[in-house]
Amino acid sequence: MEIAALVVLAVVLVVGASILWSTLRTGMPPMPSLGRAPKAMLELVPEQPDGAIVDMGSGWGTLAIHFARRFPRTRVVGYEVSFFPWLVSVLLARLMRLDNLVFYRRDFRQADLEGVEVLLCYLMPEGMQAVQQRLERDPGSVRWVISHCFALRGREPETVSELPDLYATRVYRYRYQ
Ligand SMILES: C[S@@+](CC[C@H](N)C(=O)[O-])C[C@H]1O[C@@H](n2cnc3c(N)ncnc32)[C@H](O)[C@@H]1O
Repeated sequence: MEIAALVVLAVVLVVGASILWSTLRTGMPPMPSLGRAPKAMLELVPEQPDGAIVDMGSGWGTLAIHFARRFPRTRVVGYEVSFFPWLVSVLLARLMRLDNLVFYRRDFRQADLEGVEVLLCYLMPEGMQAVQQRLERDPGSVRWVISHCFALRGREPETVSELPDLYATRVYRYRYQ
């Protein structure tokens, strides 16, 4: 019994330390888009996207899973650097048999944006700046950027929705090209 408790404690410490390390490196915890945010983001995507949908920093994979289920004929890709959230997202996609969904353990700044139509973001301002720099370097075929909570600096959103939650959280949609 004591050994089992020690093993559980060791696992909790390793997972916690790994997540903390990634959060300190990126400045962003793997906090998922919850409540009404995924639905509000889904509503901002065209009826049937022509290109892929990419989640820039996919965390535990839950937001990308919403999109993969809603658009079963569209390729959905998540990029995530934090090991355990990424591992959970891969396992969830397998368990749910979502063949159109793939998660890469990779920095989104190295994302391939060719054939991509929609970018999803739920990132702090520094993360949004990294997305913007990535797009300025090479926007690929990105047409829409949909961001939960944080705006792109110096760009006018095409639409801004306010969620009926305690913080009146905003969801922004930008037309890119
Ligand atoms: C707030 S979470 C959002 C998770 C998911 N997109 C959602 O909305 O549910 C942000 C995630 O971005 C990841 N992240 C931050 N910078 C990154 C980078 N440069 N490349 C890949 N992932 C990154 C963090 O590890 C974190 O898990």
